[in-house]
Amino acid sequence: MIRRASACGKVILLGEHAVVYGFPALAVPVRSVRTRAELSEGASPLRIEAPLIGLDAPVEDLPPGHPLTVCIRLTAEALGMAAPGGRLTITSDIPVASGLGSGAAVSTAIVRVLAAAAGRNLPAAEISRIVFAVEQIHHGTPSGVDNTVIAHESPIYFRRGQEPVMLAVGAPIHLLIADSGVHSKTRVAVGGVRDRRDADPTRYDGFFRQIGDLTEEGRGHLEAGRIPPLGRTIDRCHELLRAIEVTTPALDRLVEAARSAGAYGAKLSGAGLGGNVVALVDAPLLPAVETALRESGATAVFHTTLEP
Ligand code: MEV
Repeated sequence: MIRRASACGKVILLGEHAVVYGFPALAVPVRSVRTRAELSEGASPLRIEAPLIGLDAPVEDLPPGHPLTVCIRLTAEALGMAAPGGRLTITSDIPVASGLGSGAAVSTAIVRVLAAAAGRNLPAAEISRIVFAVEQIHHGTPSGVDNTVIAHESPIYFRRGQEPVMLAVGAPIHLLIADSGVHSKTRVAVGGVRDRRDADPTRYDGFFRQIGDLTEEGRGHLEAGRIPPLGRTIDRCHELLRAIEVTTPALDRLVEAARSAGAYGAKLSGAGLGGNVVALVDAPLLPAVETALRESGATAVFHTTLEP
């Protein structure tokens, strides 16, 4: 029997980095890109095939601490049964190390397909808990925003240690996400911010507080459908991300290109030092902004719409 499951990508609209220090973040699902898990059940021990990372091996041959092994083990524990035998194939059109949540999407798709094979429907909060444990292997000290938005596949207001709030948008929101093509490791970007914060806590806590205030403001705009003010909030957040030194000339070029082509606002999204930028765009301007992003070096541009 063949079982299939998938998981979306994500983009952080406001609040990255500050969210690691207890401030809120706003994140939304990107449904136009997905990771898919296909389980072909069989008698043999489970074999995993993930062409995106060049992997084709029996799960028992992977180190016990490997993220895929941990994901399968924690899911089996949550389901109260042994992992099935057969072949588990992972494919994805979410670019890796680009700030779109590829790692959390892989884990989410695996949890879902194993739950489907067990005839169970795990609640999103339980999926998120398992994926968070795997994210800790990838990133060290993740805030939990990525696993939460991907497992719930809903716009969220997220604060570490609190129940996430699912948000309804007050007007259609069109986002373009431009991949800079530069791989960025969240662990490295978060570690750099931590070192700089340790050297000057007062200054950095001030930046985080301002990012948190912008996130609160942005939540109000998103829920009320106030699009141009939301764009200005996004622009201001990019300046604070520059202050904490996670932007790069390539990301700034993409942000500038989106704004010059008429976007309401644009900022880097995710950990920075590479990865992607997100632009809030009026629907008629989508083609022009996309062209400007590609001409300014974007290796891929994704469109996502949030409907009220
Ligand atoms: C990464 O997608 C977002 C960061 O805020 C890290 C985290 O929240 O764990 C940079």
